[in-house]
Amino acid sequence: MTLKIAPGMVTVGGVTLSNHCILAAGVLGTTGSSLARALANGAGGVVTKSIGPFPCEGHPGPCVVEVEGGLLNAMGLPNPSREFVSEVEPLAGKPVIVSIYGGDPGEFRMVASWFEGIAAGFELNLSCPHAAGYGAALGTNPLLVEECTRAVSGLGSPTWVKLTPNVTDIAICGKAAERGGASAIVAINTVKAMRISTALKRPVLGNRYGGLSGKAVFPIAIRCVYELYEACSIPIIGCGGISGAEDVIEMMMAGASAVQVGTAVKDDPAIFQSIVSHLYSSEGVQAETIVGCAHE
Ligand code: DHB
Repeated sequence: MTLKIAPGMVTVGGVTLSNHCILAAGVLGTTGSSLARALANGAGGVVTKSIGPFPCEGHPGPCVVEVEGGLLNAMGLPNPSREFVSEVEPLAGKPVIVSIYGGDPGEFRMVASWFEGIAAGFELNLSCPHAAGYGAALGTNPLLVEECTRAVSGLGSPTWVKLTPNVTDIAICGKAAERGGASAIVAINTVKAMRISTALKRPVLGNRYGGLSGKAVFPIAIRCVYELYEACSIPIIGCGGISGAEDVIEMMMAGASAVQVGTAVKDDPAIFQSIVSHLYSSEGVQAETIVGCAHE
């Protein structure tokens, strides 16, 4: 790879990161120690598994299935709710972003308030594709995107909003997040999908539908980031199918100021070190010169 970035601390959407590559929500983010391990293994910042207003067991299995080009999952937002505060407390001061979900703006604000002064910022899950009353059920309505964002951004911490690609025009949702006071947009969450077992003549996932992630969704993520960059003024964090330094550069050219890596961690737990070792060089260019350059 010829194009490399000059190393250094990075501030994106109000959060200071040790590099441009962040652990995506839902992957290794279920305990304080797994978050700390991802940071020690080279992640520039980490996002937790989504935390909601009540403890939740999640969907019946199977919850995850490997498919060509990625993973199909429907976990059902399993989380310990407020008890998770004790997992994050020891990491205060580190670039830990707490992913939160709720059924309305008040629930979003309540969950965020539990982590005030502990989390480096919040990422609003307005995009889980298969949870009745949560995630994309709110995130496909621009008015609710704006209101949920305002409810959390009003607390004063950096507020990132993770959007669903399962809409006709993602830029409308991006602009709604921006109006609500978001510090950054994260795009994309998983693509609604399903598989059927031909042997069982039944859907493979316990929840029937799920979300597709991994290499298969990378072109969708690039297209969404490109559209958001044209429409919005706040930073965009690119997410979806990134597995190498070249993908990071491409995502930046589309308009991302930083990226998140999720599914690729399954095949290579040391992926952050590997991406960082290929992405940076002391002779590299400033990242700002790459971000959005495909639009010129
Ligand atoms: C879950 C949540 C998500 O936001 C997502 O994209 C996929 C799965 C879940 O917990 O089920």
